[in-house]
Formats: sequence, structure tokens, C-alpha cells
Amino acid sequence: MAGDFLETVGQAPVPPDLIFYDMFSSETHGEQWTIEIFRRLFDACANARERAFHLHTLNCRPRGLLAAGSLSQGPSAGVKEETTIALTPAALATPSARRYELLAAEWIGRWDRSQAKFPSEVPADQRPAFAELIRRHRQFR
Ligand SMILES: C[S@@+](CC[C@H](N)C(=O)[O-])C[C@H]1O[C@@H](n2cnc3c(N)ncnc32)[C@H](O)[C@@H]1O
Repeated sequence: MAGDFLETVGQAPVPPDLIFYDMFSSETHGEQWTIEIFRRLFDACANARERAFHLHTLNCRPRGLLAAGSLSQGPSAGVKEETTIALTPAALATPSARRYELLAAEWIGRWDRSQAKFPSEVPADQRPAFAELIRRHRQFR
């Protein structure tokens, strides 16, 4: 889609099955990495998470993607030790997803101890709900 992605997200005539999300850094372009933008992206591409949809990104902080309602994991990709692949449950059921190793309890342990547990956009009173969104994922049960 031509135009400003932040405005056109959700307007593609045919929703993509896969997006390589190679935006500028979250440090300089935080508006491209918000939970809200990932929610809109997943709503547009994955039809309430029921359609198979993958999002690949070199950003290695999956918190926001998990909170937006996707499953997630992070293999190595060349120069980056970790990347993130976000999958809808329908995508996880496809043969191409078998090669992925999902984040699991060990990741939750690291996330619990992390100094950057919550994105700065999440205010203190919404942090318990954010944490619950992440913990509720099937992959962590
Ligand atoms: C890190 S570069 C990656 C470009 C491409 N993947 C490549 O490897 O050549 C980020 C790209 O996102 C585009 N971009 C940044 N903000 C955008 C926005 N709001 N809407 C659409 N494209 C945007 C930039 O023009 C730039 O081409």
C-alpha cells in the first residue's frame, strides 16, 4: 500500500498473509511500535486472529506483539541473535510454522526479572492487565 502506513494500515484490498516489519527503530519511531498499531495490524490481517498471518521483525522485544494478541518467538537471523516472529493461532497450525520454537516458561521468567518489563506506553495502573494478556497465551500455560 502506498502512503503513510500509520494511516493506511487496514486498507489493503487483500489482507497480506505475511508482513516483514522492517520499520525504523522503536527508539526514533516509537509510534510504529505501539501495541495499538500491532492490534490494528492484526485486526486488519488476521480477522480476529482466526486467519493465518505471520509478522517477522528484527526487533527482539516481543512484549507488545504478545499483548496485541499474537503468539511469538525469536530465532536468530544472521547478524541479530534474536528476532521476533508473531503468529496467529491459525498460522501456528500451518506446516511452515513447525520449524518455529515458541517462547515458553523460560522467557516468562526472564521477562519477570527484566528492567524493561513494560513498554513505556503502558501506564502503571494498566500493567497488571498487560501482564495478564501475556501470561494468558496458550504457549505459556
Ligand atoms: C529501515 S527502512 C527498511 C526499508 C526496506 N525494508 C529495505 O530493507 O530497504 C524503513 C522503511 O520504512 C519506511 N517508512 C518509515 N515510516 C513509514 C510510514 N509511516 N509509512 C510507510 N513507510 C514508512 C521508510 O521510508 C523506509 O523505507
